[in-house]
Amino acid sequence: MSETLWWQHGTIYQIYPRSFQDSNGDGIGDLEGIRQRLPYLTWLGVDAVWISPFYPSPMADFGYDVADYCDVDPIFGTLEDIDRLSADIHKAGMKLILDFVPNHTSDRHPWFQESRISRDSPKRDWYIWRDPAPDGGPPNNWISNFGGSAWQFDEATGQYYYHAFLKEQPDLNWRNPEVRWAMHDALRFWLDRGVDGFRVDVIWHLIKDAELRDNPINPAYEPHQRELNRLLEVHSCDQPEVHEVIAEMRAVLEEYDERVLIGEIYLPIERLMAYYGNDLKGAHLPFNFQLLQSAWDARHIDNLIREYEAALPEGGWPNWVLGNHDQARIADRLGPAQARVAALLLLTLRGTPTLYYGDEIGMVQVPIPPERVQDPWEKNEPGLGFNRDPARTPMQWDDSDHVGFSNAEPWLPVDHRAPERNVATQKQDHSSLLSLYQRLLELRRERKALSIGRYVSVTADGDILAFRRESDGENLLIALNLGGTAHRLMLDEGTTGRVLLSCLGRNEGAEISGSVEIPANEGLIIELAD
Ligand code: NOJ
Repeated sequence: MSETLWWQHGTIYQIYPRSFQDSNGDGIGDLEGIRQRLPYLTWLGVDAVWISPFYPSPMADFGYDVADYCDVDPIFGTLEDIDRLSADIHKAGMKLILDFVPNHTSDRHPWFQESRISRDSPKRDWYIWRDPAPDGGPPNNWISNFGGSAWQFDEATGQYYYHAFLKEQPDLNWRNPEVRWAMHDALRFWLDRGVDGFRVDVIWHLIKDAELRDNPINPAYEPHQRELNRLLEVHSCDQPEVHEVIAEMRAVLEEYDERVLIGEIYLPIERLMAYYGNDLKGAHLPFNFQLLQSAWDARHIDNLIREYEAALPEGGWPNWVLGNHDQARIADRLGPAQARVAALLLLTLRGTPTLYYGDEIGMVQVPIPPERVQDPWEKNEPGLGFNRDPARTPMQWDDSDHVGFSNAEPWLPVDHRAPERNVATQKQDHSSLLSLYQRLLELRRERKALSIGRYVSVTADGDILAFRRESDGENLLIALNLGGTAHRLMLDEGTTGRVLLSCLGRNEGAEISGSVEIPANEGLIIELAD
């Protein structure tokens, strides 16, 4: 596969470090714990590990509030631990992707501490400070992603500072070149240590309207929605100048070989595409969250795959995401039968797949009793269903008291409702979801058509979603049933083939000719004859 790079033909696995493996008995996962579990990831067959933030942090937003970009929080370990982990990941033939959080720091970061001292502080302009509006209120109407005004008044200097997230997460001023240089140095610190790339947090937020104009009212707002949706985010993010900032970050990565820049971007397809940058000098992979946000409907998903493929800039590499630490678990959303179909879809679409830890064993939303809620979003906007804790619970390794995650009470509750929902049990069972993921990942490695082949749309109707993947002499038909009743997919006259893999584990190896019956909740990979 020399013609493609690792981040193109490989699969990314996201680890939320607090919840993967605890090695020191404090109930919170750590870097050494991840290292101990590397044999599992090798067995599973993923190619790169993305670890959510482990930098020193007061943990107001569980690490997305960084107090030092160039160190490790003692909860997670030390710089030696990350070096050891990185060395072992590389020894295992995998890559390491860090989470980079450049939009905001913690309010405890020394830069902000210095910035807030006085209006004349040399770091004042590193953040976004403004005088109150004439009535003494916030400088504009922008709303925080976690609810409430996005402006916090600071008594000491009589000005407000802007925070797109918590007030403990002040936004940096990326229009200031000194901020850019300092952050480039942080990138180089990790690149020099050998990390293979970054997932950049809320990259579309980095630049705000130069005049900080009010956002317009959203006429479609409904009260059950998050407060942020009261307004249309016209001026607070996705500004044209952001692309220059991203191109500069990309240029830092280009000083090294084969590193990857992934952007977290929640935008519709047409706006997402701009994040590949002019001449593809932006993010290598602007995260594609379409599958997370769409109704699970075959016609709808078929359209969005076609639309996404058609919108990609020439040479832009696609990618697909099925879950992350901010979204409800996919197995919960779709149910266990369709979670298998979703696995097959993720790992057969054209583009780099990102898998969220635990989705491979079908982890679901774990109920969190009110007294154990951790997520600051839930604390700010309670009871509306925004709690992210249920999707961040400890990885279920076995069926012991603390599910093999820790020998102490874990920081979030563990799930004991389904005895088979753990790695140890599913590894033994060839019909489990975990075994399906492992087989799909193996097949994806063996079959170039699946990892880097062309995507060819196939006409189907009802609950059937079908497409082909093709590469030098390999011609694979992917046919999925997103519904609960069997359908027959008609193929072009004279078409024959053989079933390579079935979600339900039925009829593998069977020959097909002219048409194929696709039972409810089935997904098939069929090798077509020439
Ligand atoms: C996006 C991250 O994925 C989320 O977890 C975090 O709360 C916000 N950015 C703020 O950093």
